[in-house]
Amino acid sequence: MPSDIFSLNLPRRMRRLRGSDAMRRLVRETEVRPGDLIQPLFVIEGDGKPEAIESMPGQQRIPLGKLADVCKKLYDGGIPAVALFPKLDPSLKTPEGAEALNEDTLVLRAVRAVKRACPGLLVITDVALDPYTSHGHDGLLNERGTDVENDRTVTVLQKMAVLNAQAGADFVAPSDMMDGRVGAIREALDQSGLTETSIMAYSAKFASAYYGPFREAVGSAQAAGTKLLGKDTYQLDPANRRQAALETALDEEEGADVLMVKPAGPYLDIIRELRDSTELPVAAYQVSGEYAQIHAAARLGWLDLERTRDESLLAIKRAGADMILTYFAQDFLT
Ligand code: PBG
Repeated sequence: MPSDIFSLNLPRRMRRLRGSDAMRRLVRETEVRPGDLIQPLFVIEGDGKPEAIESMPGQQRIPLGKLADVCKKLYDGGIPAVALFPKLDPSLKTPEGAEALNEDTLVLRAVRAVKRACPGLLVITDVALDPYTSHGHDGLLNERGTDVENDRTVTVLQKMAVLNAQAGADFVAPSDMMDGRVGAIREALDQSGLTETSIMAYSAKFASAYYGPFREAVGSAQAAGTKLLGKDTYQLDPANRRQAALETALDEEEGADVLMVKPAGPYLDIIRELRDSTELPVAAYQVSGEYAQIHAAARLGWLDLERTRDESLLAIKRAGADMILTYFAQDFLT
C-alpha cells in the first residue's frame, strides 16, 4: 500500500529500547555497585595531617592515627574492602628490605587498627618488597644486582604473608609476580594454622607505565631514582595474552582464591578472557595512572570527570571483573 509517510522497512529498530530513561534502565546489562569496589589506601606513620599526592587528586597518604576513621566511613558507605599500602620513612629501606619482616612494621599496625575499629571491613595487604627495598624492586636482588632472585624472594614473601594474616588481614595479595609464590604462600599460611586467610593473586600483572603515580605515592620511584623502574623480568610483557592465560591458570592451580588483572582499562581483553576461562572470582585493578589520566584531562577541562570515571568502571565490570580495586571507590559511598 503506497504511503506518503516515508519509513524504512526495519523489523528491528534498536532505538526503541533507548527512548527514555526508564527504558534504558530496564534494559541495562551492567551496573557498578559500591559492593563491587575496593579502595586502595596509602598509610604513613603518625597522627598528623594527611599528605596530598600530587599526581592522584583526592588521594592522600593517611596517618595511622586517622586510618580507622577513614575506613569506618568507607565501610558505612557500602565499600566492603580496602587494600593497604604503607609508605615508609626512607631511612627504613635497605637492599634486602628487612623492615618487611619487622613484627611491628607500619602495615601490621595499620591492619590491627582497622580490624579493631571496623571488624566487618575486609582488609587486603600487599605482599611484595617494593615499599621496603632501597632499590624499589619487589624482591631481593642477586649478587651482581642485575635481577630479582625468584626463590629467595619467595621465602621472604611467605613470612610476610604469615605476618599479615596473623595481624588480621582477610586477604594477602602477592603483587610481586615471582614464580611459585601463590602455592608457597598458601602452604606457609596453612602450616601456621591460617587456613581462613584468602589469597588475592595479582596473577596477570603487566609491566606497565601506568604505575607511575603509585610509585610516587609509596616512594618506591624515588628509591629507584626513576618512576619508570624496569620490572620487565618479572611483570608480564603488555604484548602477551597467552602468557597472561598461563599465569592465571598457574595461580589458580596453586590455590589462589581470587585472580587479578592489572592494570584494568587497557587490558579489558585479558579480563574477558580470564572471566571466560575460570570459575574463580576475577578482580581488576584500575591503577594509579588510569586514575591520574582521567583527573588530569578533567582538570584541563577536556573530559567530564564523573562521566569518564563511571564509564571507565562500567567498562571494566562489563569486561567481566567481579570486583574492582579503584581509587574512585571513595566517590561511590551510599
Ligand atoms: C607493587 C605494586 C605496584 C602497584 C601495586 N602494588 C607498583 C609496581 O608494581 O611497581 C601499582 C598500583 C597502582 O599503580 O595503582 N608491588
